[in-house]
Amino acid sequence: MYICPVCKKRLKKLDNVWHCQNGHSFDIARKGYVNLLTTNKRNPKNCGDNAEMVKARTDFLDKGHYLLLAQKIAGIAAKELNSTKCPIVIDSGCGEGFYTCIYARELSYAKIFGVDISKAAVSHCMTRVHNQGISNCEFAVASSFELPFGKGMADMVISTFAPVSNDEYARVLKKGGKLIVVSPSPRHLFELKSIAYDEPYENKPNKYGLNKFDMKDEEIYEYKCHLESSKDILDLFSMTPYMYKTSAEGIQRLKDLTELEVTCGFCIQVYNKKSGF
Ligand SMILES: C[S@@+](CC[C@H](N)C(=O)[O-])C[C@H]1O[C@@H](n2cnc3c(N)ncnc32)[C@H](O)[C@@H]1O
Ligand SMILES: [Zn+2]
Repeated sequence: MYICPVCKKRLKKLDNVWHCQNGHSFDIARKGYVNLLTTNKRNPKNCGDNAEMVKARTDFLDKGHYLLLAQKIAGIAAKELNSTKCPIVIDSGCGEGFYTCIYARELSYAKIFGVDISKAAVSHCMTRVHNQGISNCEFAVASSFELPFGKGMADMVISTFAPVSNDEYARVLKKGGKLIVVSPSPRHLFELKSIAYDEPYENKPNKYGLNKFDMKDEEIYEYKCHLESSKDILDLFSMTPYMYKTSAEGIQRLKDLTELEVTCGFCIQVYNKKSGF
């Protein structure tokens, strides 16, 4: 299914190695994923979430606070895939695999490929699939801006809180392929921001420049979530970009909390790939 990140020829799996016809080879790690980032792309400044961020995300997601969202996305994906036989779905910027494993379970007839630029995140995806006995998922370390898949191989790409690539998603999707993009709604985590900042602001809609796609549907999906411990609050905070923009006083105010009722708000967009791309 993968293509070689160096010469773009198809990769074939032989024992524990993916090879292309030009002699490039990529070992499958002991945990079962493959690293398809070429050495010159392994820039430490741009290698995605580190192990600490992955742990905070895992601890938070495992509490189930975003389970409703994951199930909601899986439901939309199932509806959009409709009667497609053995569909191929890419979870682009899949993180530590919480959502990917839910897609795999809810879309058990599909083959799911998770891709993330963070090795720590992809390694944790493998822990999840092993623990949950999931067999319709594969994971690779790779960039969403250079996906390791051939042209027109996928039925659907899903991107949740991750970088979005107009060109790559259009390239890997089949004619009529679908794209689901999930981003924060204007009110997402507003209560948390009200504690951290003197003047909290609503999130502005992301502009992705998806000119190779037509938007089919857009929905704001919101619910309240009760965080019952300081750890949950800080894990959630460390999953957000606010972590890098908050003053020491703001962080201290968050650390002093022991519980918080917070709005979880998501903007879920569904796109059709335009014909001609
Ligand atoms: C906010 S997290 C979201 C992860 C997951 N989708 C979730 O919602 O739990 C963003 C993810 O994008 C990954 N990422 C950042 N830049 C990337 C890139 N160029 N290609 C692929 N993944 C990337 C990070 O490593 C991180 O796992
Ligand atoms: Zn090659």
